[in-house]
Amino acid sequence: MRRSFYKKLTASYLVVITVVFAAGMIYLHFGLSAQLMEQAEENLSRNARLARRQLVSSTSENPQSHRMDVLADEIGRALGVRVTVISASGRLLADSSLAPGASEKGESRADWPEVIEARKKGIGSSVRESLRGDGDLLYLALPINAGPFSGGVIRLAMSLREIEETIGKMRGLLLVAGAFAFLLAIAMSFGAGVIVRRGFDEIYDAVEKIARGDFSYRIASRRQDELGELARTMDRLASEVEAHLDELRNERDRLEAILEGMAEGVMVTNASGDILLMNSALREFFPSLPEFEDGAPIPLETVRSTEVQEAVRDMLSRSATRMEREVEVLPARTLTLHAKRARAEGESNLVLVFHDVSEVKRLAGIRREFTANVSHELRTPLTAIQWAAQTLEVTAQSDPEATRRFASTINRHARRLSALVEDLLELGRIESKDEHVRPEEVSIRNAMDSVAHTLAPVVEKRGVHLHAEIPEEADHVRADPAALERILINLAENGVNYSSEGSEITVSGHLREDGFVEVSVADQGEGIPPEHLSRIFERFYRVDSARSRENGGTGLGLSIVKHLVQEMGGDVWVDSAPGRGSTFRFTVPTP
Ligand SMILES: Nc1ncnc2c1ncn2[C@@H]1O[C@H](COP(=O)(O)OP(=O)(O)OP(=O)(O)O)[C@@H](O)[C@H]1O
Ligand SMILES: [Mg+2]
Repeated sequence: MRRSFYKKLTASYLVVITVVFAAGMIYLHFGLSAQLMEQAEENLSRNARLARRQLVSSTSENPQSHRMDVLADEIGRALGVRVTVISASGRLLADSSLAPGASEKGESRADWPEVIEARKKGIGSSVRESLRGDGDLLYLALPINAGPFSGGVIRLAMSLREIEETIGKMRGLLLVAGAFAFLLAIAMSFGAGVIVRRGFDEIYDAVEKIARGDFSYRIASRRQDELGELARTMDRLASEVEAHLDELRNERDRLEAILEGMAEGVMVTNASGDILLMNSALREFFPSLPEFEDGAPIPLETVRSTEVQEAVRDMLSRSATRMEREVEVLPARTLTLHAKRARAEGESNLVLVFHDVSEVKRLAGIRREFTANVSHELRTPLTAIQWAAQTLEVTAQSDPEATRRFASTINRHARRLSALVEDLLELGRIESKDEHVRPEEVSIRNAMDSVAHTLAPVVEKRGVHLHAEIPEEADHVRADPAALERILINLAENGVNYSSEGSEITVSGHLREDGFVEVSVADQGEGIPPEHLSRIFERFYRVDSARSRENGGTGLGLSIVKHLVQEMGGDVWVDSAPGRGSTFRFTVPTP
């Protein structure tokens, strides 16, 4: 672009020079040479008249032909021309260029074009090449109409070499001037090019940088001309664009941060359903979604959910502006989908917001189940107590033995009720997190001593062995003493309850590399079928309700364990197979 500017400048200079040069040449050729010829002819005709008068007056006194020769020579020398005189018959009378006496010889000269013309019109002229080879000559002839040679013709001839030389010189001068102007034009356009280019280069570089997105660049030109003004305008433009861009960028970052910070999945589609925008929460719901490539929309089909695809198509085909529905996505997630039509840049887009309601639904289910479970658990002992009390009313007086039996039934069920209420209250307390665990440094061995003491009657009744093997390095942990004891009691009690006579329940521990102590409670009991393993930590969940109830169990023990372990930053899990015993393991942090 810059080179072409420079070329154009040079070309325009050259065009002007060529036109001026051509005009000069044309003038020189047609104007100046014609003018010089006219002037020469006029001079020659004046001289011819003068010569004729001289000739007539001289020959009138002495009409001798040799005198004529001398006269012609004299006049010729005086005027610097060649003088020729011919008689009326066309015979050569005198010629200043010939030796005296030679004039008599020769043939008729009456057929010279200038002589014919002179006789006809009173003056005749012609330009011819000299027979003697000294270039073109201008001939001018006048008739002699007085004196003894009346009827003859006097002719003057003048060399045109001088005129030709003058024109040649002028042409040479013009050529030199033209060449000089040519060089000057190149030099000037080069100079102008350099000056202008420097200014342009600055602006060009800046525009190039701006085009590449670098709006921080400033030309800071010190030029005072129009280019300087242009550069300053460019600087202003760049800073304004930069400010606007910053503002837009901030706005975009803010929006992006909001979008990314949302737990809801957001998706924007165009009028044909292709995805224009999404956030990372959406990608979590639909992991099949690919990344955007060069900002091109993503086809709706990449959302691998026919329900979502249908919802979008429904929305696009109908004129509704809002829609709300529930969609199920894998794995086992329920999302509510709010769709809204939004107009942007004249196009009708859809904004879809996905909200994960799986947890809400799960909790609602658990609450329902919990209520049903509690009612059921309460009903059994209450019915038993009711029945025993009614019977007591009848037998109280008559049968002291039966009375004692029924009273003990009431007592047993009342204890069961109270244990149930106790467990429920405890679970409620833990779950509501009103009562926080207070971890401190405790010894697992000490806790186990207390557990063994508490469980001693059951252990003895069941005829099983409970012992603990805690190595020194795994003894000290950071836990709430009561919570740790409760965990150990629940696990050990289960081991005792679900084992047959003579089997062993072992509580052991080891320090793991991650700084946690892993405690395991292993029994040699009946084990747990695999299909129940994932659920035994749920509230009221029992593998065999009848068997558990027989032991006075409510199904709350393991859920209490899980809550307490997690509250202290640990984890609990189980390894078990039917017939091969169960091992419950949990982790507690070290101090
Ligand atoms: N060591 C074990 N061996 C076999 N089954 C077990 C063992 N521990 C727990 N279970 C099964 O898991 C179920 C849930 O145990 P959990 O301790 O929560 O309730 P529970 O013992 O029935 O009643 P409680 O609330 O009195 O402890 C039990 O009913 C039992 O079926
Ligand atoms: Mg239990």
